[in-house]
Amino acid sequence: MITVIGLGFVGLTTALGFSEKGIKVYGYDINSEKMNLIANKHIPFFEKGLQEVLERNLNNNFILSQNLQSSVKNSQIIILCVGTPSDDKGKADLKYIKSALDSIIPFINKEDKKIIITKSTIPPSTTAKEIIPYIANKGFDIGKEIFIANNPEFLREGHAWDDFINPDRIVIGTGDEYTKATMREIYKNFNVPIHFVSINTGEFIKYLSNTFLATLISYSNEMSIIADAIGDIDIKAAFKIFHEDKRWYGNPANMQSYAYPGCGFGGYCLPKDTQALCAKALEYDYNPKILNSVLEVNREIKPHWIEKISQSVSEEEPIVILGLSFKPESDDIRQTPALEIIKQLLAKGYEKIIAYDPLANELFAKTYNLPIEYANSFQEALELSNTFVIATGWQEFIYNKDSFLNKKVFDLRYVL
Ligand SMILES: NC(=O)c1ccc[n+]([C@@H]2O[C@H](COP(=O)([O-])OP(=O)(O)OC[C@H]3O[C@@H](n4cnc5c(N)ncnc54)[C@H](O)[C@@H]3O)[C@@H](O)[C@H]2O)c1
Repeated sequence: MITVIGLGFVGLTTALGFSEKGIKVYGYDINSEKMNLIANKHIPFFEKGLQEVLERNLNNNFILSQNLQSSVKNSQIIILCVGTPSDDKGKADLKYIKSALDSIIPFINKEDKKIIITKSTIPPSTTAKEIIPYIANKGFDIGKEIFIANNPEFLREGHAWDDFINPDRIVIGTGDEYTKATMREIYKNFNVPIHFVSINTGEFIKYLSNTFLATLISYSNEMSIIADAIGDIDIKAAFKIFHEDKRWYGNPANMQSYAYPGCGFGGYCLPKDTQALCAKALEYDYNPKILNSVLEVNREIKPHWIEKISQSVSEEEPIVILGLSFKPESDDIRQTPALEIIKQLLAKGYEKIIAYDPLANELFAKTYNLPIEYANSFQEALELSNTFVIATGWQEFIYNKDSFLNKKVFDLRYVL
């Protein structure tokens, strides 16, 4: 059995979702008005589809907790779905999480091996730095007498039921096998990939998703401000046409390749176009903060990698740079991130740099005339060093990833 604490958008949907899948769930909310409404088969907020599910499951698989002590005692898993609003400094306020923990912990015995899952959104490191110490302070040996994990929720209000019952994937942040096996069991009827990741990663993924969406929205809004400043631009039509780009819909190239970390964007278009629009906006008295930051981060990411490399590679060791073009399947080397990476390694004192690109060696050598060497093939490059920096995600490197066994590889494109 599961007990869900907090029956708001996420909690009630979660409780009903698991009940619908055949699991017995107790639901508990501190707000008695909310509990009464649910007891009378009313959903306390509008969310299509939930009413029928409540009617079907209430007092069958879904039971409103009359007595938190016995609900907790009868449940192997307790899922926290309480709110995590901003505090006055903008931090996630954990007061509801802590009060929920205060209300359940007294009913947990050490030999019960209960699993407490945070489904509420909490910033990365919160479980490790705040929740685990909070519970440990109450006398529990974490990972032996009680298990703590997270399970971020990606549902959208307005589509809560459909998103919960047909998720894209399930994410569980945990390090222990007991929790993994138990969570696999409760999600077994969902037929989607279950990703077991570290506790911090689980928390991070939710913020990865939400801040990306926030950036897209602010980006779109900043573009509308620039358009208004310049004038005679039909912003609505422009966005409609923009959305017809097949990259939004999947094949042959989809948006995933943009929402991907690496060593920054390069090539002919993204750097110069972003710069040019910043300049144009300034001409029209608007300082484009997001676009400036986009360029700033694109600069910062290179020294960030150089620092990582310099922490474990001495200046005398030869380094092979794999990939010179700004992206795979192209020999375009204009503003390629590899150029900046090589320049910064040279400036740091690295004495021997060997570059290899399946297409762009000659053009790169001729255009930039840097004091480096070139390998004629991937095989040759492999023999010239034990340290590799992947600067372009060419398939040749990915297919041959076994060649990197026992080598030091800095995968600046996260392709391996
Ligand atoms: N709303 C969304 O679309 C959404 C989507 C994904 C994740 N989340 C995250 O899920 C969490 C919950 O969001 P929500 O929209 O469901 O919030 P909500 O405010 O609708 O629900 C939270 C519920 O928790 C109850 N509660 C507070 N303290 C309690 C306690 N000690 N014991 C029992 N109940 C208690 C409140 O009375 C309330 O009913 C938040 O962390 C939110 O960021 C929300």
